[in-house]
Amino acid sequence: MGGISQQTNPNRKLRLAVLISGRGSNLQSIIDACRIDEFPAQIKVVISNIGDAYGLVRAHENNITTRFVSHKNFATKAEFETKILSILEEFEIDLVCLAGFMRILSPTLITPWEGRIINIHPSLLPKHKGLHTHERALEEGDSESGCTIHYVTPGMDEGEIILQKTVPIIAGDTPETLAARVLVQEHIAYPEAIRIMASKLQHNL
Ligand code: GRF
Repeated sequence: MGGISQQTNPNRKLRLAVLISGRGSNLQSIIDACRIDEFPAQIKVVISNIGDAYGLVRAHENNITTRFVSHKNFATKAEFETKILSILEEFEIDLVCLAGFMRILSPTLITPWEGRIINIHPSLLPKHKGLHTHERALEEGDSESGCTIHYVTPGMDEGEIILQKTVPIIAGDTPETLAARVLVQEHIAYPEAIRIMASKLQHNL
């Protein structure tokens, strides 16, 4: 009886690493969610490849440990990613959350974490992979946009979708007004996706 349930520890919170490069508003939404008692995760480390990323300030203000790892200090992408791998190991991370992390990762980092590394993208994937998503949604006359949380795989913005949130595109929208509308949904989506991941990963903890 109960082989799986014996391994399940519903009280054990998922240990998160959040990887950022900038403003960190999605990081903030995760920080805020983690303040809720029953939220099934806690941030153990914030890693930034940019030294003056505002997300690092947010982390410090919330007493969260940070690591600054500049990609410029490494001769190869593999060495940069190996450094990040060692930090993930140091903090016994369960789930890696990319939140505005502006480096394309290679299999060096992704393969050992496949299934436990997720990203937020500001479009309704598979539409508008890559950059300038809002400009492209407007140029193509889309009637709606939104955000996607997906697994990270070696193909950029191609991993299986965990959840999406949709917003309407309104006449007169600019990339900025659309980005702001999508961002509101991003901040709802990331905590929700972490809850989904917690229930998926719980039996492995
Ligand atoms: C967000 O729009 C996210 O979807 C994209 O980069 C932006 C990061 O914003 N990947 P922030 O740093 O979380 O405020």
